[in-house]
Amino acid sequence: MFKIAVAGTGYVGLVAGVCFAERGHKVVCVDIDKTKVDLMKSGVSPIYETGLEDLMKKNYKAGRLEYTNDYESAYKDADAVFIGVGTPENEDGSANLSYIATVARQIAETIEKDCLVVVKSTVPVGTNDKVEQFIHDFLINDVRVEVASNPEFLAQGSAVHDTLNAKRIIIGTQSSWAENLLQKIYEPFKLPVVSVNRKSAEMIKYASNDFLALKISYMNDIANLCELVGADVQDVAKGMSFDDRIGSKFLNAGIGYGGSCFPKDTKALEYLATQNGYDLKTVKAAINVNKDQKTLMYKKASNRLITFNGLKVAILGLTFKPGTDDLREAPSLENVPLLLNQGADIYAYDPIGAGNFAKVFPEGKSRKGSIKYVSNIEEAIEGANVCFIFTEWGEVKAIDAQVYKKLMRTPLVYDGRNLHSVEEMEQAGVEYYSVGRAP
Ligand code: UGA
Repeated sequence: MFKIAVAGTGYVGLVAGVCFAERGHKVVCVDIDKTKVDLMKSGVSPIYETGLEDLMKKNYKAGRLEYTNDYESAYKDADAVFIGVGTPENEDGSANLSYIATVARQIAETIEKDCLVVVKSTVPVGTNDKVEQFIHDFLINDVRVEVASNPEFLAQGSAVHDTLNAKRIIIGTQSSWAENLLQKIYEPFKLPVVSVNRKSAEMIKYASNDFLALKISYMNDIANLCELVGADVQDVAKGMSFDDRIGSKFLNAGIGYGGSCFPKDTKALEYLATQNGYDLKTVKAAINVNKDQKTLMYKKASNRLITFNGLKVAILGLTFKPGTDDLREAPSLENVPLLLNQGADIYAYDPIGAGNFAKVFPEGKSRKGSIKYVSNIEEAIEGANVCFIFTEWGEVKAIDAQVYKKLMRTPLVYDGRNLHSVEEMEQAGVEYYSVGRAP
């Protein structure tokens, strides 16, 4: 078993650290935020993730997991330091690597024994070469340090499960020393390992995420065409899914992908291509389709209604997907200001994301309209003139068509996630619009 330090306690870092401890390693998670460290020590996770707190408590109690803001003590005698800090998007679409650089320098200035630095954060191809050079430039002690790439493929909402049951572990190294060490660290996971060179590992992460983004945008493009010609995109997806070259996942049309990964990673790869004088046409197309898709429901409703001014508008779902309170790049963030500018009185429901949303759009009068957060679906739709569905929460999917008919002032529903049956809504007398299906 190894002594592992993990830099950064966001989705990537914390989940990795907890899972390494769960598989028997001795782990210390480092974060500069003292309040966050104290919170984690008391067994509270700073992120909402199924099963995470249980594993945090279990491994902390067993003495395999620690948290600290003292990076020196954590890094100096670690066999490996995993970097899981954020790489947010710069305005031009490139990745901001300043957090990685800070950690790299701290590692260089503190390690006292041979150490493998493993970058889990998503970084542009070639970054790990630079990180290695950077560490060597600042290295104080005479020790061996190498950098390996080990991209992360977990999805928010199922992060712990995805890590412990990963489809593959990608290991990108430049020496057999680094490769062997990383292989051994992952041995207790008993998962398939793909060992490649560092740049290929970095590219695998982007190529995988961007392929999934492309798949979604492709289905959204097809959905928009389906509507025009009278086909049903869900039936089309079902028919396609039997071909295992296509697969059955990520074929759901809707109001576009959000989150901290696909929007950022598509733009970063396009940026990398442009920097290298290459026009990455497919990824560019995925980005463009997604941009238009996000406000599709708003545009449809604007065509149907003269104005939103003074209308009670119900919004069901604010997060970028269910199972998380994360709002990053969520379609709701684009639609709500459009509605408020038009004077809508919004009643928004989200089982866990409303608190975060209220930080961006505080309750009360806002622009020409107003926004109120309610704790149940009925309160949101009661007396509403129109209802928008932005997130595919199970409880929203479970609403019976009759409920819209009974509670809404005008039963007019714009479903950006294709949660309801067109037939059932029609039979209940609800005017229902969705994505890629006949109204
Ligand atoms: C994504 C990838 O799925 C992970 O494999 C990857 O590790 C992660 O990014 C990352 O790079 O860290 P995540 O962003 O958590 O994970 O969420 P997804 O479940 O992939 O969903 C992304 C977006 O696509 C959501 O807005 C979702 O609603 C949308 N989506 C997904 C669709 O519109 N249609 C689909 O069929 C599937």
